Amino acid sequence: MTDSLLVQLEERSYPIYFESIQSLLKKEVDQLEKENKTRFLVTDENLKATHSGYIKAMGFEESEIFVVPAGERSKSISVYKDLLSFLASNAANRDSVLFAFGGGVIGDLAGFAAASYLRGIHFYQIPTSLLAMVDSSVGGKTGINLPEGKNLVGAFWQPKAVFIDQALLETLPDNEFASGLAEVIKYGLISDKALFEQLAKIGEIKKDSKNLIDIIRRCCSIKAEVVSKDEQETASKDGRALLNLGHTFGHAIENVAGYGSYLHGEAISIGFYIASLLSENLNASFSSKDTAEVKKLLEQNGLPTSLKSPLSVELLNKAITRDKKNRASGIRYIIMKAIGDARTLEGVEPNLINDLWLKVGASEESH
Ligand code: GLY
Repeated sequence: MTDSLLVQLEERSYPIYFESIQSLLKKEVDQLEKENKTRFLVTDENLKATHSGYIKAMGFEESEIFVVPAGERSKSISVYKDLLSFLASNAANRDSVLFAFGGGVIGDLAGFAAASYLRGIHFYQIPTSLLAMVDSSVGGKTGINLPEGKNLVGAFWQPKAVFIDQALLETLPDNEFASGLAEVIKYGLISDKALFEQLAKIGEIKKDSKNLIDIIRRCCSIKAEVVSKDEQETASKDGRALLNLGHTFGHAIENVAGYGSYLHGEAISIGFYIASLLSENLNASFSSKDTAEVKKLLEQNGLPTSLKSPLSVELLNKAITRDKKNRASGIRYIIMKAIGDARTLEGVEPNLINDLWLKVGASEESH
């Protein structure tokens, strides 16, 4: 039997596959062909060059592939519009299927096009980065950026299946791999102490590490469980929001430093360290020893726990108040009661946050 797990969402449930990916994909494409359903694949220039053999082996022809420039800038209204026009000009219909072959940018862009074209067509995720494998390809968040901020337009649109092939990580740059590890570590921090301990025992996690596919699988199963219980992040406490541990701080860093200055995983790594300090401050059960363990594991994996150069506390706090995850009730932070046990929390004293920013190298001078 093929190794897979199911994201349980009633009629929108779908499998995540972890082995024999190439043959499964070929089978899927052949089946579409048999049913006379057209299929299209979205990828970026770099992946197209590196994995042309892989894409061809799946059964795609050049005319069925939509290639975008690599990088976050492709999550724009103009690339989104071009993708919709590509589908329309190729007479894609309600039975057509879109394949997203790439990292988070490709998955979010293709997913949003699938969600909105003809009010929704089926799509598949084939994540090629570690971050996409353990986070963005699972759970149905799709979207694009506006000049005013990241992910401001989007939809919840679940894929029909996710195909995870560890072999695709071989060509992933090391810093991108480390960025994905931040999300892996996050799952240990929010809900799985045993996973955190396993990672701490390994120390420096490598792309060809024997355990990696099991670790990815474990992360996907945590995410699947969280998403099944709170698909659209509407729970009044905890729920899917717990997946945002460190992200409020991380998004503020990315925003103030300028998008592209920090990889997402680098920014949230600093965010995890701040969240650990906040947890230590707000509850006695999270100790300075816990914070030190979190810091050690992040640093062993090449992830930062302080800013590369000082950013203004005032601007960072302003960015926090603009975070799209804020609710009418205010800013919602995620803290840990212990490693592996996270909670949402509102009403945190702003002064406390100021002190924590200073601890990671922010500056009180306004810039
Ligand atoms: N990346 C957080 C979520 O999918 O909810």
